[in-house]
Amino acid sequence: MNKRFYLTTAIDYVNGQPHIGHAYEKVVTDILARAHRSLGEEVFFLTGVDEHGQKVQQTAAANGKTPQAYCDELAALWRAFAQKLDLSVDDLIRTTQPRHQLAVQAALARLHAGGHLYQAEYRGFYSTKEETFLTEKDRRPDGTFDPSFGEVTELVEHNYYFRLKSHQAWLIEYLEQHPEFVQPLSRRNEVLGFLKNNELEDLCITRPAARLSWGIPLPFDPAYVTYVWFDALLNYITLPAAYGDETVIKSLGLEAPTGDAIAQPLNLWPADIQVIGKDIVKFHAVYWPIMLRALGLPLPKTLLVHGWWQSEGQKMSKSIGNVVDPIKVIDEWGVDAFRFYVTRELSIGPDGNWTDEGFRSRYHAELANGIGNLVNRSLSMLKRYRQGVVPARHDELAAAAARAATETIGQLRACELQPALVTIGGLIAQANQYVDRTAPFKLAKDPAQATRLDEVLYNLTETCRILAVLLWPFMPSTAVKIYTQLGLVGAPDKMDAITWGGLVPGHVTSDPVALFPRKDQPPVKPGVKK
Ligand code: ME8
Ligand code: MG
Repeated sequence: MNKRFYLTTAIDYVNGQPHIGHAYEKVVTDILARAHRSLGEEVFFLTGVDEHGQKVQQTAAANGKTPQAYCDELAALWRAFAQKLDLSVDDLIRTTQPRHQLAVQAALARLHAGGHLYQAEYRGFYSTKEETFLTEKDRRPDGTFDPSFGEVTELVEHNYYFRLKSHQAWLIEYLEQHPEFVQPLSRRNEVLGFLKNNELEDLCITRPAARLSWGIPLPFDPAYVTYVWFDALLNYITLPAAYGDETVIKSLGLEAPTGDAIAQPLNLWPADIQVIGKDIVKFHAVYWPIMLRALGLPLPKTLLVHGWWQSEGQKMSKSIGNVVDPIKVIDEWGVDAFRFYVTRELSIGPDGNWTDEGFRSRYHAELANGIGNLVNRSLSMLKRYRQGVVPARHDELAAAAARAATETIGQLRACELQPALVTIGGLIAQANQYVDRTAPFKLAKDPAQATRLDEVLYNLTETCRILAVLLWPFMPSTAVKIYTQLGLVGAPDKMDAITWGGLVPGHVTSDPVALFPRKDQPPVKPGVKK
């Protein structure tokens, strides 16, 4: 059975509304998923929601709802959000689903039987906001905890622990030998630095059910529920277990897939790319590999760590009132403009800063004046001068298009999305300059230049077609619109269509329609001369 190319995102807490940070991560992963599909791979793209834990239990109570009723509502909202972002997801996991719970319990039973867990008393501090225990090291010089932890409470309780200490040495070695495991490299170095300078403390993986009932019960001790992070991380393999992934099923000691009957089981694990934000690196680059190792499973190939978005130069916060609502932006500007902006503005790694002004300015400079203008004028001229009929093939821009295509594909394979958009933007600029240089509107006035005009029009139209193919992972509906205006059917969703010469002479294009209408000028009234 073939293994699919498997991509995951972090699963979002359902205790609030989705914001631009959540949207960014999902869009980045979607672009990678689409890129690999376009490159001919069989892909599985998973996203989901994280529904357990004290934070969700408290938010549900504050809303006067049972946790389950609250999660059902929020899960529907997040599912609609995934659609709004035009994500090509294959499944959306909820940690309250039986398929997940069954596999989590199987994993816990395995770890328990293998001697990886033990019981002990815990005494210390807990941040509900971050669902994490704090240690003395988390205190600031004045003894307080950072406000980002929210209210911190002191706890004394018995719990189950997962042994981490004995795993430190191999994990360091693994990170050293696999520089591609945590990307970008600066994050991998941070993890290595942390592991080399700190002794790992065993991880508390339960909560007494008496204090917190909203979690997955331990299969071997019903007085406890599973710590939300331990449950959440496992989603990346419980989903494969639901689809009958052979390696995962075997390692969890399951008899059958935990999901609904499926005709054809899928092999997914190990994941090829797991996309996460910088704040949860320790969970994914330290705890998660150790959990997998203890279960006898291979590690994911790559953890791709993105930075955080601020808004108008400040951390997004409800009290400042600067939280960027992606749904509002999409309703006003379109989903592709949103997908373009976040990917073009921020490379994967550093932090980004959303500004409304920056968004408007990229929209006009790169979308309206860039690809929008190129497609519009190319097709309008073909319509006006040649009734939309594609002339004889000519290869003046072929080399430039081939160069851009090869470079873009390399960048997509290397998860370099912002650089790929820069490359594509370079081809758009070249084609727009070609219009200015060859001046087809002048050629059209001189019958002796008819052949030259044919050549120019072919080069422009074919470049638009190739751009649709290159842009599809980033802006799928725009790419389809370009194809439709070119009179082509279907979606430009296969990279092998980038070969020059796809448009055949005699083919008839459709009517050009503005892809990204300008929004910075008052609309021109019909009949009024400017
Ligand atoms: O951490 N900019 O959920 P979450 C960019 N449930 N990314 C951001 C961001 C911002 N301003 N704010 C959040 C959790 N994110 C856990 C994950 S995975 C097994 C469990 C990113 O809803 C954040 O880095 O707090 C994370 O990758 C994702 O959104 C979900 O954050
Ligand atoms: Mg968070």
